[in-house]
Amino acid sequence: MTLHTSSTLAVPEVSAIPRHVAIIMDGNGRWASKRLMPRVAGHSEGLNAVRKIVQECRRTGVEYLTIFAFSSENWRRPPEEVGFLMKLFLKSLKGEVSRLAENDICLKLIGDLTRFDPAIQEMVKFSEEKTAGCKALTITVAANYGGRWDILQAMQRCLAANPNLKPEQVNEALLQPYLSMAYAPEPDLFIRTGGEQRVSNFLLWQLAYTELYFTDVLWPDFDEAQLQKAFDWFSQRERRFGRTSAQLATQAMSNAA
Ligand code: IPE
Ligand code: IPE
Ligand code: MG
Repeated sequence: MTLHTSSTLAVPEVSAIPRHVAIIMDGNGRWASKRLMPRVAGHSEGLNAVRKIVQECRRTGVEYLTIFAFSSENWRRPPEEVGFLMKLFLKSLKGEVSRLAENDICLKLIGDLTRFDPAIQEMVKFSEEKTAGCKALTITVAANYGGRWDILQAMQRCLAANPNLKPEQVNEALLQPYLSMAYAPEPDLFIRTGGEQRVSNFLLWQLAYTELYFTDVLWPDFDEAQLQKAFDWFSQRERRFGRTSAQLATQAMSNAA
């Protein structure tokens, strides 16, 4: 596995199109309520938006797309809604995996999967194996995921692998391989639909220098044009990673020379 540049250890390379896009797909329930439909109808409709955005990321050359499907706090929802989301998760894995493989799209899951039904765990394993060699785009679905869980599980696995570790030996480079997204560069662009401006325990570690884009558009209404809008906004950001604008200008001049 290639280890990617940590934005705090070295300045990463930047590009006009984000290499890694991370999305909090929010607003499904409100989309349905506005139409006097049950909340869960919004989740079904949200799946259509996922298909569109996956294809558009594939088309535009995004390398990694990470989507938040179910947070470690979403178990607090009514059991009927949780049950529906679990069924939808299993159904969509079964329905999509062949198409993903045909389109050279690799699927990965992050989160504590042990709490899921064995049927889901088996389907996750099967889907990951079936798409493991795919290269055009890597989609990561975060399910029963929490940013705090991720940091803690990384620390636990790191300590288990290095039982004699002294506190002063703990550093980023040592911990990084144990984080659940170690296979991907840090997200360049974070998108949250549905109007809330919060991170809700998504990729806490990895968002250190990510550009944060918020839109009021509800997830089922988020389409190719909306994604393009987010990309246009992203392309206007000056990503300084702690440096000054003048330093960036000098670097751009020396690169052009
Ligand atoms: C996001 O939409 C989907 C999940 C959290 C599974 P919501 O279900 O949170 O929709 P709102 O925010 O209630 O409208
Ligand atoms: C975040 O949305 C989680 C997912 C989209 C899966 P929530 O709707 O659960 O977040 P809060 O509760 O509004 O912060
Ligand atoms: Mg929500």
